[in-house]
Amino acid sequence: MKRISLTQHLIEQQREHDTIPAELRLLIEVVARACKTISHAVGKGALGDVLGTAHSENIQGEIQKKLDVISNEILLEANEWGGHLAAMASEEMETIHPIPNRYPMGEYLLLFDPLDGSSNIDVNVSIGTIFSVLKAPEGMHAPQEKDFLQPGSKQVVAGYAVYGPQTVLVLTTGNGVHCFTLDREMGSWVLTQRDMKIPEQTKEYAINASNSRHWHAPVKRYVDELQAGVTGVRGKDFNMRWVASMVADVHRILNRGGIFMYPADAREPDKAGKLRLMYEANPMAFLVEQAGGAATDGARRILDIQPEKLHQRVPVFLGSADEVARVTEYHQK
Ligand code: AHG
Ligand code: MN
Ligand code: MN
Repeated sequence: MKRISLTQHLIEQQREHDTIPAELRLLIEVVARACKTISHAVGKGALGDVLGTAHSENIQGEIQKKLDVISNEILLEANEWGGHLAAMASEEMETIHPIPNRYPMGEYLLLFDPLDGSSNIDVNVSIGTIFSVLKAPEGMHAPQEKDFLQPGSKQVVAGYAVYGPQTVLVLTTGNGVHCFTLDREMGSWVLTQRDMKIPEQTKEYAINASNSRHWHAPVKRYVDELQAGVTGVRGKDFNMRWVASMVADVHRILNRGGIFMYPADAREPDKAGKLRLMYEANPMAFLVEQAGGAATDGARRILDIQPEKLHQRVPVFLGSADEVARVTEYHQK
């Protein structure tokens, strides 16, 4: 079989759809290269002294793992000098990171969750990186946080890498979702799945069920119906999967269908769930929609939400369109 590299794929997409100008292609290739470096560090594990805690806290008040910090540094360093970006923002940094003056400033903004699934690092379970690309507003000179506060529908690129048994990169530039596998010997990303589509029929759901006593009524009703199985209103049995790395759960759903939920609940009424809108929910929602699925916060399409803060949280329901529609409808009743 002829192998198509990430570069060749991006050039062909540009010829076909005219959506990936050279600067954007550079951006995607630099992010992909950074993910390759992170994958290498992840793969070293204890041998590379990358496991365990960094003894620091991020803006969300979460203890940072060494790999959270290392992955953030890798992405920052890789993306600073190419001239394709105006600024970056990350789960691991309180404020935005404008490109230093010594480098030319580009027209894109990059957001990332450098290491998703931190609780799985030390136990050798799949983890990943999530990223989202926006265009800087017209006429912007010195980038500020407000320049990032654009709804997800404005994303020009979204993607994630999974560092699992294989390292894969899943990408959309608005023309379908494509998956690349890292050839570790050659050091290259090879196109292995073109135009991923979420299967419509599903028998799988993903939610952290240990929180069930805190769930609001619509979520409880929806999950109760799934659990009632073949004798309940759904008339079939469902299976549950929860990796606790959103990248791995979403990757399964893109391949095999299903629904992923991280709702808000009654524990902290002011907290809109756990996941962050701008660098977790938005990129995943863009990918899922491009693969024929849907993503809501229980009421609205995630991509329509006007962000108010960089680190804003949002409830997430995403995956097979019919399932997302059903649980969203329960919220509306
Ligand atoms: P992060 O490691 O970037 O903080 O994200 C972890 C997220 C997400 O990947 C996952 O789905 C969820 O947290 C797991 O939450 P629980 O610990 O509640 O299972
Ligand atoms: Mn995350
Ligand atoms: Mn993270």
